[in-house]
Amino acid sequence: MSGKKLSGEVFYPSEEVIERAHIKDWEKLNAEASDDNEKFWEDRAEELHWFQKWDKVIDDSIKPFYKWFTNAKTNIAYNCLDVHVETYRRNKLALIWEGEKGDFQAMSYYALHRETCKFANVLRSLGVEKGDRVTIYMGRIPEIMIAMLACARVGAIHSVVYGGFSVEALHERIEDSESKVLIVQDGAYQRGKIVPLKEIADEALKRAGGIEHVVVVKRTGQDVNMEFGRDMWYHELMNLPIATKECTLEKMDAEDPLFILYTSGTTGKPKAILHTHGGYMVGTYTTLKYVFDIHDDDRFWCAADPGWITGHSYIVYGPLLTGATSFMYEGAPNYPYPNRWWSMIERYGINILYTAPTAIRGLMRFGDAWVKRHDLSSLRILGSVGEPINPEAWKWYNRVVGNEKCPIMDTWWQTETGMFMIAPMPSVPLKPGSGTKPFPGIDMDIVDEEGNSVKSGEEGFLVIKTPWPAMLRTIYKDPDRYVEQYWSKYPGMYMTGDSAKKDEDGYFWIIGRVDDVLKVSGYRLGTAEIESALVSHDAVAEAAAIGLPHDVKGNAIHAYVILRAGVQQSSELKEELKKHVGHEMGPIAKPENIDFVDSLPKTRSGKIMRRVLKAKALGQDPGNISTLDE
Ligand code: WTA
Repeated sequence: MSGKKLSGEVFYPSEEVIERAHIKDWEKLNAEASDDNEKFWEDRAEELHWFQKWDKVIDDSIKPFYKWFTNAKTNIAYNCLDVHVETYRRNKLALIWEGEKGDFQAMSYYALHRETCKFANVLRSLGVEKGDRVTIYMGRIPEIMIAMLACARVGAIHSVVYGGFSVEALHERIEDSESKVLIVQDGAYQRGKIVPLKEIADEALKRAGGIEHVVVVKRTGQDVNMEFGRDMWYHELMNLPIATKECTLEKMDAEDPLFILYTSGTTGKPKAILHTHGGYMVGTYTTLKYVFDIHDDDRFWCAADPGWITGHSYIVYGPLLTGATSFMYEGAPNYPYPNRWWSMIERYGINILYTAPTAIRGLMRFGDAWVKRHDLSSLRILGSVGEPINPEAWKWYNRVVGNEKCPIMDTWWQTETGMFMIAPMPSVPLKPGSGTKPFPGIDMDIVDEEGNSVKSGEEGFLVIKTPWPAMLRTIYKDPDRYVEQYWSKYPGMYMTGDSAKKDEDGYFWIIGRVDDVLKVSGYRLGTAEIESALVSHDAVAEAAAIGLPHDVKGNAIHAYVILRAGVQQSSELKEELKKHVGHEMGPIAKPENIDFVDSLPKTRSGKIMRRVLKAKALGQDPGNISTLDE
């Protein structure tokens, strides 16, 4: 990044990687973006298609309700598909997919456009109009991409609920979003078993009203309940005469909502983060192109799930906007054997692999031989996201997977940011465990309790000081919470909820969350949701959940439970409570361990002091406990 010698352990990119990179001189790009941020984003936006250009790049007249590309007209789905269908990319593969059983599907831009148009017509025939919400509860199959793009095409707002969530999590999200239509699969394959998504959805729908139609994609083929008049098979709908491949596209205002995505916050219910067509499109396109250095012949594999922001931005929208080929794999990384991923990289000639530290640590456990059996020479760039990557995992990833020739892009960002915020580019010197510096044009800082910048080497709160195109616009239906949650601690600064420090070279090092959000296997969960799932069990009076360090998962959930009077403690009850959380919220939220206790440490105002529980579990000093009630 600069001519100066960098401190600590540094990995310099190879000549070959730099030679090919879109951005060979990061400093120059950063200077350009810092000089004139509006011009920087405007130039990037010019690379995409607009039915009508903007009046202003950024409108900050009502802070923090920033607007981007005001009065411009576009549609992200048009830029993902229609634009390419008009070019030589028409017959290029947009999506390569492998099922867990080994089945395979490949779709050209032409085919993905056709299927999307057909399904968009189906949605319209079910009464879906611009602005309506559609909940999508599916696993990793091509139809999830088609469903998302079809929503975008007709101007509906998709709300994807991760397929690893369960009854109550789905119910809550359907109800809050007031969705009209639900798109689901009969079941999803996971580690050789079937996750009965339709059955879970049926149970959630018994608790939630509002859904008029359920579209069911047949994947696993077992018998499912189909409610007459409400439930319809996807393949049958796609064969109706209304499902033609011509479908008028809704011209969207740049600021029209594209999707909501629920994520966990500090307190209470998950919040619906809202993203728009225009700014989100420019942000995901630019960041993916520069950070993963996407070229036309690249096969890009983001191994996340489409149900999380990483999948939205970098399996679906980003790769299609850049005209790359996106790869999607349905199942578990070690199924049937720990070489599954490596075998697919070899067979499909994947050039870029983007995954999470937890997956790397999980696969690392099986040893180098599983990787070394495969020719991974197609790989050029690697990536990491979701939590800080420990240097040991970084080095293994670099040495064994990347054969010491693939730079690792450690990308820091959030559901709220929509796009990478701190990330290197392939021509930038790397330090294991650091995402290097903020993306050009993004002003980030680390501040103390009062909002003053801390000195290098000191820990503080990570904040963002300038608006960025893919930023969340609000929390759906709750603008007050948007202001309160993100912009109220330090006016004018966006609070990320993370703590971090900067080193003497200006490299950022993320430490972790400072709130009650847990990162478990890279998944973002709120302690409040886990606790409310526990308390919804008849035997439980009160509960507290914390995260404790775990070798593979990063954090594992530990829960403390006060039973109702008269309920007997037993190990069977512990198991039952774990199962209950799994059933209500999803397997990812199941506590690793549950302890029965008589009381919980609380402040005088009754808030559970989770940090005291954590310190105690780790045998550490709980620090300042002056606000502790007892
Ligand atoms: C954490 C995921 C360290 C961070 C895209 C953030 C990271 C939260 C990194 C957002 C990284 C994400 N290094 N920590 N490279 N990337 N995080 O909304 O705590 O699921 O606030 O978005 O993940 O999680 P979310």
